Amino acid sequence: MYKIASIGGDGIGPEIVAEGKKVLEAAGEKYNFDIQWTDFDIGADRYINSGKLVTEEEFKELSKFKAIYFGAIGDERVKPGILEKGILLSLRFHFDMYVNLRPIRLLNGVETPLAGKGPRDIDFVVVRENTEDFYVGIGSRFKKHQKTELTIARELYSVKFGLDVESDAEEIAYQIGVITREGARRVQTYAFDLAMQRKKKLTSVDKANVLSDVYGLWRDVFTETAKSYPDVTTEFNFVDAITMWFVKNPEWFDVVVTPNMFGDIITDLGAMIQGGLGLAPGGNINPKGTSMFEPIHGSAPKYKGMGVANPIATIWAGSLLLDHIGEHKAAAAVVSAIEQSIRDGVVTKDMGGSARTTKAGSYIADCVRKGK
Ligand code: IPM
Ligand code: MG
Repeated sequence: MYKIASIGGDGIGPEIVAEGKKVLEAAGEKYNFDIQWTDFDIGADRYINSGKLVTEEEFKELSKFKAIYFGAIGDERVKPGILEKGILLSLRFHFDMYVNLRPIRLLNGVETPLAGKGPRDIDFVVVRENTEDFYVGIGSRFKKHQKTELTIARELYSVKFGLDVESDAEEIAYQIGVITREGARRVQTYAFDLAMQRKKKLTSVDKANVLSDVYGLWRDVFTETAKSYPDVTTEFNFVDAITMWFVKNPEWFDVVVTPNMFGDIITDLGAMIQGGLGLAPGGNINPKGTSMFEPIHGSAPKYKGMGVANPIATIWAGSLLLDHIGEHKAAAAVVSAIEQSIRDGVVTKDMGGSARTTKAGSYIADCVRKGK
């Protein structure tokens, strides 16, 4: 019996999580485990009605779970950034989910916009650092003069900045990116370990030629960490160049490790080459704590309640969840079932089919049950 938390969130979030639950339950029937869900009402509606994002009590409750199944957040009634930072990022940071795992894999039967490339060419994993970099939320926007104290508190360390900025610009804004040795080391170690289980090739992404302090440290840690993994072939790629190689030669990549912001950008590109955002899952992982699994797409508010959303990214994220809790066979069966539904053409409109969200989800659940 597994206890799993779920947060449907906004827009299409609740609909796609409902399909994901169906499929994971089917996997439980087939592979002999039960899932007990605990739903949390977190999202835009509640924020609008009560001003609450994630309460202290909810953090406490959520900390009892090894895994959270997450839909999406984002709502046009709320100013951009409030829900993203106040819910999604605050969950990632609070639970120190320092790995953002994003498989970029072209499933059988899915079309990629890359001419001449197939499933054998597009099969790698991006390991995105998930707690540091320009995401730490240290910045400001002001006129003339400002004195500020800014802090970051993490399980691993805390940092305090005291800044006294004098400027005669009409208005000025800055944002600080932070990389720490231990923050870089732990995510890179995770990536090296993953590379050891795969093809033993690891690519590191940075922009050390320009942002030489933050990414210079990232690079130094990578070089050091590599010494403990003599069997892994390593390389550095600048972020601008890697976008080019993802398109031209995706088959070169096996595991890619990247700082947070570049990871955000290159995984949207990755999603496109694996067939679109409707197919791209992600896991926010704290190997020793609470982890969270979600599609990498957003809440798509204009499709809310229409029954047209593609549930595959969320169902696939459910497979990552199963892997994480140790149900490896069930996890693989879920991905096979997704492939089966694609082969049988029972897919949503974005993939050229006519199935509604619930139909696509139920079909995948049936495929899991039948072990097709
Ligand atoms: C993602 C999203 C988030 C991010 C946003 C919604 C905060 O784009 O998960 O990739 O930037 O990490
Ligand atoms: Mg993103």
